[in-house]
Amino acid sequence: MEDKLKLLHDKQVEATLGGGQNRIDKQHAKGKLTARERIHFLFDKGSFEEIGMMVTHRSTDFGMERQKILGDGVITGYGKINGRLVYAYAQDFTVFGGSLSETHAEKICRLMDMAMKNGAPIVGLNDSGGARIQEGVKSLGGYADIFYRNTRASGVIPQISAIMGPCAGGAVYSPAITDFILMVEDSSYMFVTGPNVVKTVTNEEVSAEELGGASAHSTKSGVTHFTADHDLDCIHKIKRLLSYMPQNNEELTPSADYVASDEVRPELNELIPDSSTQPYDIKDAITAICDYDSFMEVHPNYADNIVVGFARLAGRSIGIVANQPMSLAGVLDVDSSKKAGRFVRFCDCFSIPLLVLVDVPGFLPGTDQEWNAIITNGAKLLYAFSEATVPRISVITRKAYGGAYDVMNSKHIGADMNFAWPSAEIAVMGAKGASEIIFKKEISEAEDGTAMLLQKEQEYNEKFAHPYRAAERGFVDEVIEPQYTRLKLIRAFEMLQNKTDELPYKKHGNIPL
Ligand code: HXC
Repeated sequence: MEDKLKLLHDKQVEATLGGGQNRIDKQHAKGKLTARERIHFLFDKGSFEEIGMMVTHRSTDFGMERQKILGDGVITGYGKINGRLVYAYAQDFTVFGGSLSETHAEKICRLMDMAMKNGAPIVGLNDSGGARIQEGVKSLGGYADIFYRNTRASGVIPQISAIMGPCAGGAVYSPAITDFILMVEDSSYMFVTGPNVVKTVTNEEVSAEELGGASAHSTKSGVTHFTADHDLDCIHKIKRLLSYMPQNNEELTPSADYVASDEVRPELNELIPDSSTQPYDIKDAITAICDYDSFMEVHPNYADNIVVGFARLAGRSIGIVANQPMSLAGVLDVDSSKKAGRFVRFCDCFSIPLLVLVDVPGFLPGTDQEWNAIITNGAKLLYAFSEATVPRISVITRKAYGGAYDVMNSKHIGADMNFAWPSAEIAVMGAKGASEIIFKKEISEAEDGTAMLLQKEQEYNEKFAHPYRAAERGFVDEVIEPQYTRLKLIRAFEMLQNKTDELPYKKHGNIPL
């Protein structure tokens, strides 16, 4: 038995060394943790159980039969994160550059199948040179097997992808199908075709970082939802993100301990400026409304005219969608509609109630927006809200104009409760634009056109720049003092916690993609 135990221990040590100490040192020299270290920090201490440690590839081309490394470049297994079951894989760059072989893919697929059957989230820590070049189409098939499972698992279990090194070619499509992507600054990149191919085909000179680094994807493309300063920061963000989510689509969201205290927030009464054209930071409202330090913003650097993210209200997870008057006056455009639409759909998949803070002057006009399909993209957000069956509450803080009023979780598209602050203005458009159109004749015939316009604007404002017309019709359930918003929301979400609502039977809808 002693010999047998020794063989086991030797193999375990061999597996933990991956591609060897030299390559581990190289990984550290780049400021990166190894796959094993990442797994160690991701899971609760001592809770990780590895699956498939001894798996090796089956390739015999290019002398590969002489280069077999236990585990074949990916660590797969399960354990506890904050006490809850999670499956994870970590690609090991020290083994053939973390490249994906047939068996590497099989290990990931097996893990995904288990995560689906047992209803727990899956986290992928990606650090890979892409398809294992020596294996050709077998590797491509392996990717497709993963993409297929990603799609089947979408909406069933939360899927999170961290990009902690290279991620190129078709390898980007697994993360793209998952729910959230995190990228580590300066050490990760994602692109379909790298700088060399770009140069050959388009003659553009661009570095890997410029083309597909964390900064490009967090600000320009919106591909990544979060960036991290370094590997550990990335791992902390994954753990925090998971804390807002249920384990699967049949569970309710987790609740943190909460002791009721004074829920009145007087600072909210001071938030809205006197002039309706003056900006204010909607994140101040979010901070005052939600539990202390509970807001985790998603996509903070992309389309910042809308703010989305997770928070807690009286200990319960909620998703927040809020127009941001500090950026483009909070207008809806192509990017903000896509960003918010996808977030709403995630929350709806996983029973996370939605709080919508509305201060929206309308859709952004212009050729750029029209030619980039604001019609189709705006419809994504409209569709996402309309089909969401989770508890949904809106608070109109100031403007709710035009089509954007309808889109931003109005009662007409299924919001359960709609509150408005006394500063709310609910109308087809702003007073100036409206007066110029409907009083065009009076203004042009007046001796002093400017004074007439001002007078008509004032008349229009008195008629519409308040929430009471909407309240009369029941489109607003209650006009509330801002300082009581948190209290009202805690009670309303509690009232809605057993909400049931079903969409008509269908295979699936046809969201305007
Ligand atoms: C096999 C690979 C590999 C790969 C890297 N290695 N990529 N082995 N298949 N795809 C090996 C290297 O031979 C090397 O082995 C070790 O990993 C580290 O690689 P280096 O090049 O030394 O590292 P670095 O300088 O950091 O460069 C990393 C890299 C580069 C940028 C990722 O290795 C690279 O460009 N690799 C190829 C990327 C690529 O074109 N992949 C295919 C994408 S297409 P040793 O033994 O020296 O340590 C694709 C299609 C998928 O993925 C389609 C799915 C639908």
